[in-house]
Amino acid sequence: MTVFSLRLSIAVLILASVVRAEEKAAELPPPLTHYMGRKIAQTMHFTGAPWLVRESREREEECTTLLQELKCKPDMKVCDMGSGNGFYTLPIAEQVGEKGRVYAVEIQQEMLDMLAQRAGVKGLKNIEGILGTPVDPKLPAGALDLILCVDVYHEFDRPEPMLAAMHKSLKPDGVVALVEFREEDPKVPIKPEHKMSKKQILKEWEANGFKLVREFDGLPWQHVMWFQPVPKQK
Ligand SMILES: C[S@@+](CC[C@H](N)C(=O)[O-])C[C@H]1O[C@@H](n2cnc3c(N)ncnc32)[C@H](O)[C@@H]1O
Repeated sequence: MTVFSLRLSIAVLILASVVRAEEKAAELPPPLTHYMGRKIAQTMHFTGAPWLVRESREREEECTTLLQELKCKPDMKVCDMGSGNGFYTLPIAEQVGEKGRVYAVEIQQEMLDMLAQRAGVKGLKNIEGILGTPVDPKLPAGALDLILCVDVYHEFDRPEPMLAAMHKSLKPDGVVALVEFREEDPKVPIKPEHKMSKKQILKEWEANGFKLVREFDGLPWQHVMWFQPVPKQK
């Protein structure tokens, strides 16, 4: 092979992979800036991950209370949607035990890498990291008892396909636990687009085939609302 033909082959290979990447991007619907009257928040960048495991988080958010309210039991199949570096994934993995499973879904590989490192230190082997896309969390169908969404739903820039995918991945009696900073409370020190009101949450989730089945109002900063999928009409 001459130097020229080698260069040509490399150029063709590079061009082919660029085209494939563009085609892949084109398959996704364009990101939204607003949904049902709400401004969608920017994705929290992985360099902000230390904030998720800050020492003051327990005091500010009463995370232990949330974990108790989630009532995770041995053998359960749980998804930690938008897991970040695994602040909730790790204790839930301990609660569901060796025969249970936690699917940690992220769109940033760096977050999954930090989570894997933290899980390794604790010797946890029942966590499966999944690199999803903004429209597809790549979860198994009809398999999950619980999907936990802590401070992530307001970042979905294509909420409808994500809600449809979560709907499909739950067992018939499975639930989503949605945790969002309270927009109704001006004392919650979080940027407005990272907060949601109950009214807005209900508007968006009911329109996408979920019904509210339980609420917990005992956290200092956040709403906790459990949603069950309404079976699809045949
Ligand atoms: C504010 S962090 C919360 C992390 C974690 N839930 C916690 O409470 O520690 C939100 C995370 O959701 C992820 N995220 C945003 N959109 C997502 C999507 N469509 N699918 C999966 N993860 C997503 C972001 O990459 C980010 O790591």
